[in-house]
Amino acid sequence: MSGNLATVSYIGATILFILSLGGLSNPETSRRGNLYGMIGMTIAVLATVFGPRVTAAGYPWIIGAMVVGGAVGLYAAKVVKMTQMPELVALMHSLVGLAACLVGFASYIDTSHPLVGAEKTIHELEIYIGILIGAVTFSGSLIAFGKLNGKIGGSPMLLPGRHWMNLAGLLVVIYFGREFINAPSIEAGMTPLIVMTVIALLFGIHMVMAIGGADMPVVVSMLNSYSGWAAAATGFMLSNDLLIVVGALVGSSGAILSYIMCRAMNRNFISVIAGGFGTGGGTPAAKGDAAQPAGEVVPVSATETAELLKDSKSVIIVPGYGMAVAQAQHTVYEITRHLREKGVNVRFGIHPVAGRMPGHMNVLLAEAKVPYDIVMEMDELNDDFPTTDVAIVIGANDIVNPAAQDDPTSPIAGMPVLEVWKAKTSIVMKRSMASGYAGVDNPLFYKENNRMLFGDAKKMLDEVLVALKA
Ligand code: TAP
Repeated sequence: MSGNLATVSYIGATILFILSLGGLSNPETSRRGNLYGMIGMTIAVLATVFGPRVTAAGYPWIIGAMVVGGAVGLYAAKVVKMTQMPELVALMHSLVGLAACLVGFASYIDTSHPLVGAEKTIHELEIYIGILIGAVTFSGSLIAFGKLNGKIGGSPMLLPGRHWMNLAGLLVVIYFGREFINAPSIEAGMTPLIVMTVIALLFGIHMVMAIGGADMPVVVSMLNSYSGWAAAATGFMLSNDLLIVVGALVGSSGAILSYIMCRAMNRNFISVIAGGFGTGGGTPAAKGDAAQPAGEVVPVSATETAELLKDSKSVIIVPGYGMAVAQAQHTVYEITRHLREKGVNVRFGIHPVAGRMPGHMNVLLAEAKVPYDIVMEMDELNDDFPTTDVAIVIGANDIVNPAAQDDPTSPIAGMPVLEVWKAKTSIVMKRSMASGYAGVDNPLFYKENNRMLFGDAKKMLDEVLVALKA
């Protein structure tokens, strides 16, 4: 393939990636968005492999790597459960970071295109910054992976003087950056480069270890952004324009998503990165802890739930992580359809961090064919709860916790929540009194107008559906 054709292909791929991002911003166009992304990536890979910079001698290596990588990716995509997606994403980000580091070292020891003067300095600076971002992304993402799948505890690890340690690390990295650029030979430059890589790896571990479980969604999207910048840095090192553009797209969209999620959780981005969230009020942020009993709860049966639903004119359904675990979305839709046929106004209230990944609930509801026009964002219907007969919470907990508004010492204080307790009756469907992701008790369960429907969400909803149809 000629250089010109490769350039045109890169431009085509870039346009497709931009269209893909645009498409993914809306459930109705997301399929198309995915398709654009897939076509764009195929063009990008073909244009790179058959482009002017790869010689025939490289093909066996490239094909071998693609077969191994493709097989691992295919296997991971097939076996991963929807609820494990954030872990997989964190693991993928770590690979981008690792790739940036490896490309950085390879590009430093590669003497096939000797550079001199300013060009050499710029190239070395690209290598130094690329490896720095890559190493932070690599180790940070591995820790995020461990925290998300529960192998590493969710509570923040706060070392004494941690901000000073980070600052000292930064100064050492700057000092060794100077040593690296001024190094007279590749051998001499290796030591500062390795020292910086170790510091960056330790910084990545330290940064994510200091962040509490409740802030992990923001961390994952922040690492997503870092992986984009790592890819862009790799693009600079390899002088590959497409990688620079794609890296910048991922980097900036990840940064925007982190900002949106911080706003959804009423958190300040800097304080999330600084870590320590979840320790303020001394409330444990351990995952899945059984909540301390703080009052009486009123259990209801599936039949009573069906009666309450039959007698309502308006119903708001709030799905959460438990609906995903139970795979209850199809039964939820059946119930919705039945109620709508009976003239009940049914709507869904979606919290921006419901479940375990951005858009988690929207994906599940779309899969179950719930019409988009009754799936509303939290802000769109939070004012409607006082005029709602029944608010039914399906496997959600933190996102409907009134303590976020009422208890300033709560680890989730200030996080906007769906105000289900303002409905005439709220029904919470979950298996036990256990807490949710943030590990905090939920005073909603003890409210006078709240009922608890204990059991697996799918099983209980099946029973509700049978009772509704009876
Ligand atoms: P959670 O607060 O985690 O609550 C989920 C509830 O579902 C649990 O209390 C659990 O109670 C129940 N549950 C689990 N399996 C169930 C089943 N089979 N049937 C019925 N109920 C079941 O979830 P949420 O309200 O969706 O809030 C999301 C939380 O995750 C927030 O704290 C958020 O910050 C965090 N987070 C979000 C993301 C993103 S981006 N969305 C990523 C990572 C973390 P039982 O055990 O008693 O059944």
